[in-house]
Amino acid sequence: MLEKIIILDFGSQTTQLIARRLRELKVYCEIVPYNRFPENDEPIIGVILSGSPFSVNDSEAFKPDLSAIRGKYPILGICYGAQYLAYSCGGKVEKGDLREYGRARLNPKDTNDRLMTGVPANSQVWMSHGDTITALPAGFRVIAETEDVPIAAFRVENEKTWGVQFHPEVFHTEIGTTLLDNFLQICNAKKDWTPASFIHDTIEKLKKQLGNDKVILALSGGVDSSVCAVLLNRAIGKNLFCIFVDHGLLRKNEFESVLENYKQLGLNVLGIDAKDYFYKALDGVEEPEQKRKIIGKSFIDIFNREAQQLQNIQWLGQGTIYPDVIESLSITGSTIKSHHNVGGLPEKMHLKLIEPLRLLFKDEVRKVGYELGMPEQLIKRHPFPGPGLGVRILGAITPEKVRILQEADAIFVSGLKEWNLYDKVWQAFVVLLPVRSVGVMGDERTYENAVALRAVNSTDAMTADWSHLPYEFLAKVSNEIINKVRGVNRVVYDISSKPPSTIEWE
Ligand code: XMP
Repeated sequence: MLEKIIILDFGSQTTQLIARRLRELKVYCEIVPYNRFPENDEPIIGVILSGSPFSVNDSEAFKPDLSAIRGKYPILGICYGAQYLAYSCGGKVEKGDLREYGRARLNPKDTNDRLMTGVPANSQVWMSHGDTITALPAGFRVIAETEDVPIAAFRVENEKTWGVQFHPEVFHTEIGTTLLDNFLQICNAKKDWTPASFIHDTIEKLKKQLGNDKVILALSGGVDSSVCAVLLNRAIGKNLFCIFVDHGLLRKNEFESVLENYKQLGLNVLGIDAKDYFYKALDGVEEPEQKRKIIGKSFIDIFNREAQQLQNIQWLGQGTIYPDVIESLSITGSTIKSHHNVGGLPEKMHLKLIEPLRLLFKDEVRKVGYELGMPEQLIKRHPFPGPGLGVRILGAITPEKVRILQEADAIFVSGLKEWNLYDKVWQAFVVLLPVRSVGVMGDERTYENAVALRAVNSTDAMTADWSHLPYEFLAKVSNEIINKVRGVNRVVYDISSKPPSTIEWE
């Protein structure tokens, strides 16, 4: 059985990063809310307690009973996790004189300590907390300090329990990987979790779980649903039925080219042209959330209609990935936009849900895709939202606006590819604005649409920075769009980051 580290989430923004680092070290891990430690028999080899937005002294702070895990598994408390370990045993945690943010220099006091192996004096670490541990409980021993924080790291005597008041998971902690790796050694981790082992285990599991059952899956053209389909296909072959719906909000020529890709992958796929159905349902609707809901519902209508033609389907496959799962489990999360595409389908269709990628991050899905031998153009494709161009045409949607946006977007995206910029940005697209402006072309006054180019860099779409694309490139693309796309006479470049903006405009 797959061995794993459990990360108890106390709500820190960097909890996901801990998971990513461990997985980069080839160890499988799962994030669970602070009060939901799994009670089954899965082979748990260690536990990490995350940071938190709270202070342990807040009345609303999360304070679970740790007695069932203390001493049973190796434990590493990070920031709040460390403070809570000390606090819950009678130590003192107080507001620091200085709030500790940013870089600090760590000095190990006990070089024999297993957590500190290979950590040199003066190592850069990243701090981010308002509180600090001022007195350790009996049996706790300091193993490292910084100039301002005398108890930067501690261990509990005669127990495999450690705490660090800095963040080993963030990039700025230079010895972060070393430290986490030391913890994995302490846990006796086998470090054998790789895309290949994931594929092998998942296919075995799917075969067992699905037997001769039939699965239906909606393909979107994106990497998640495609990788999900290929995995299912490897497990159950022709018992997987894929449906790829053209909602009329895909990129230019995307429906045909992606359908062709799918066929080449040996998938059993049915392409459905439902453009008119969607355009009709969306006619005159301007409000973004309403548009999303209509697109979601129309999708379900079409999918349902097609599924009914198929007999004896028991399962609905979905390419849900880990960030979506974490978001839905989140103890502090709130919904900004009602994401997603086929939510509500399983209940409606009385199908059981199968989500083979639900524990993978996006970059891991890509690695799995490569390992499965899928074509690069499918794997490297930028993320594309379920509602497609529907959330990139601000205001009401018409087929003519779709045409304008598709043309402009195709110029931008193919330009990025030509200039070798496509793989350097996380996501890039054009937005059609509900704004017309005056221009002059030849001797003619024009009064036409404006479009915005958007390109961002990100690792997980939770935060994003606008991409600093070369001016020469932007100039060329802008020219080409205005010259070639009938209906556009102005191009602007979006230089907003997320937060406070979002990646999409709607
Ligand atoms: P935002 O705009 O929230 O987008 O910063 C973050 C990432 O999610 C994508 N996105 C969606 N994906 N269904 C999806 O499958 C949706 O409804 C949806 N809305 C946004 C967006 O493209 C970006 O990558």
